[in-house]
Amino acid sequence: MTRLSVNINKIATLRNARGGDIPNVVKVALDCESFGADGITVHPRPDERHIRHKDVYDLRPLLHTEFNIEGYPAPEFIDLVLKVKPHQVTLVPDSPGQITSNAGWDTKSNFDFLNEVLDKFNNAGIRTSVFVSTETEMIEYAAKAGADRVELYTEPYAKAYPQNREAAVAPFVEAAKVVRSLGLGLNAGHDLSLANLNYFYQNIPWLDEVSIGHALISDALYLGLERTIQEYKNCLR
Ligand code: PXP
Repeated sequence: MTRLSVNINKIATLRNARGGDIPNVVKVALDCESFGADGITVHPRPDERHIRHKDVYDLRPLLHTEFNIEGYPAPEFIDLVLKVKPHQVTLVPDSPGQITSNAGWDTKSNFDFLNEVLDKFNNAGIRTSVFVSTETEMIEYAAKAGADRVELYTEPYAKAYPQNREAAVAPFVEAAKVVRSLGLGLNAGHDLSLANLNYFYQNIPWLDEVSIGHALISDALYLGLERTIQEYKNCLR
């Protein structure tokens, strides 16, 4: 089964635009779960422009499904994750002001750093995932550094999909085979949508998890959150 983890950062962005508590991030997360999401993902950034540290603490005891915290492992992020102990932490190489993640890790150049950080999370019993491109060497170094899983950065797939979906998915299928041969778990995310998700899944049915935010929350404006989540789940069958 491929799990759907809903990234709720956009809900926090909407709330923060007015400074109050509408929409309520915890309520939306719990509703996503009751509508069928298998997990909730948050990406707290240092400037707290969407998910705040307080949200992460508020969510932890209330969620019933898998909690995934993603972000750049700066000292305060590491501290937050070790305190909150989510089911999974996903390491992303983005700088503080970045609009969204736009690349996987260079796991070779950052090997020592990743190895040290992954050790901390592994010792705390938190499953680890490292955001990477489809390059074999990057996946191999993620494994050597101690990751339990990798998350494949799917923006290149999503961009190329409309022109030629076979060509778009091919490097991901190859990468997914490398991931499997190394005994790692496999996640994927970025720009996955109702248009491109099912084809990705059909080609890589051993995917453990997808994490989806932007397109899913945008679809919910038209379809409503419940139906949207059900439609994304249907793409994973
Ligand atoms: N995975 C990672 C590592 C991300 O940084 C993001 C965006 O926050 C996503 C998945 C979800 O991407 P999208 O919002 O395009 O679905």
